[in-house]
Amino acid sequence: MTIQEKDIADHGAVIGVRELALSAAGAAALRAAVRIGVAEVLEDDPKSPADLAKALNVNAEMLARLLRALTQHGVFNETPRGYAHTSTSRLLREGDPNSLKYYVLWVTEPWTWELWPHLEEAVRNGRGGFEEKYGTDFFSYLHAMWPESAEVFNKAQTELSRLANNAVAAALDLRGVGSLVDIAGGHGYTLTSLLAKNRDLNGILFDLPPVVADADPRLREGGEFASRARIVGGDCLQEIPVQADVYLFKNILEWADEKSVRALRNAAKAGHKDSRIFIITNMIDGSPEIKFTTGTDLLFLLNSDGRKHTAETITAVVKNADLRIVNRQPVNSYLHLVEAAI
Ligand SMILES: C[S@@+](CC[C@H](N)C(=O)[O-])C[C@H]1O[C@@H](n2cnc3c(N)ncnc32)[C@H](O)[C@@H]1O
Repeated sequence: MTIQEKDIADHGAVIGVRELALSAAGAAALRAAVRIGVAEVLEDDPKSPADLAKALNVNAEMLARLLRALTQHGVFNETPRGYAHTSTSRLLREGDPNSLKYYVLWVTEPWTWELWPHLEEAVRNGRGGFEEKYGTDFFSYLHAMWPESAEVFNKAQTELSRLANNAVAAALDLRGVGSLVDIAGGHGYTLTSLLAKNRDLNGILFDLPPVVADADPRLREGGEFASRARIVGGDCLQEIPVQADVYLFKNILEWADEKSVRALRNAAKAGHKDSRIFIITNMIDGSPEIKFTTGTDLLFLLNSDGRKHTAETITAVVKNADLRIVNRQPVNSYLHLVEAAI
């Protein structure tokens, strides 16, 4: 490497570190734009910051600064006639079919800013320590103390499920399966799509009682799938009171391993000898979307002593539950399906 090439490489590293250290500014700007609703009022034609500020009832100069910063990240596009949508900013609108509005809010909620400073301590001590700090587990705390955030979370899960939906439905071969219970299935978005695709399937939505209280109306009395659906509220760490042919765990065995083992054991206890267990999870190794997965891995460390899995760690969890893995395959660019037998 010549001295000049080394200077350029060093400068690239300097830029990289400066930008990475300021990542919080990007996250905060995105959150502010979503909360204010910029992408919702921007239509097909570009709009000046002054017009946008008027429509949004915010300060025009500050909005211009926010838009300028987000434009540097490719979120909006600056044109001579004002700011315009990009394919990124369209994802911040609630009505967009691929909307990530609630996902953005979820991963930038005020409690996340409270937890991030504890990362150093977690690395030193080997534990996230949420329960020690807050006196209870994350989900109980979320529902008791941050109910608005719990609502944001449920909507974010529905958004993520919607994005992965077709790939998940294609990956799960449910031919000949009579019943499936979606453990920790949120509001039931995944379950409704499995019921839509598999016309002989009966589905059970299982999640915490306050979550299933808001289950998708299509699963409830009078809904499109009511005759093939049941809704059960409960705690999968205590008991799974449902016998089914398939137990689906999508993005849930990502808390502390000991809890994941307990939930799997409870499914095995509830099932019959031929029941199968489908685990859908982000996999760190082999994932093209590695920054998304490793970033979430750190957040889960802090909020639940949880993790995103490698092939090795998910295999250990399944083995510790006295189950065996019979199949593992990618679902999309960030999810894997791991199938276990009792
Ligand atoms: C990351 S979300 C996954 C939701 C859904 N499976 C999906 O993929 O969209 C985790 C879910 O676990 C539920 N949950 C957390 N603790 C639970 C427990 N002890 N028993 C049952 N569900 C639980 C939450 O309410 C939430 O809906």
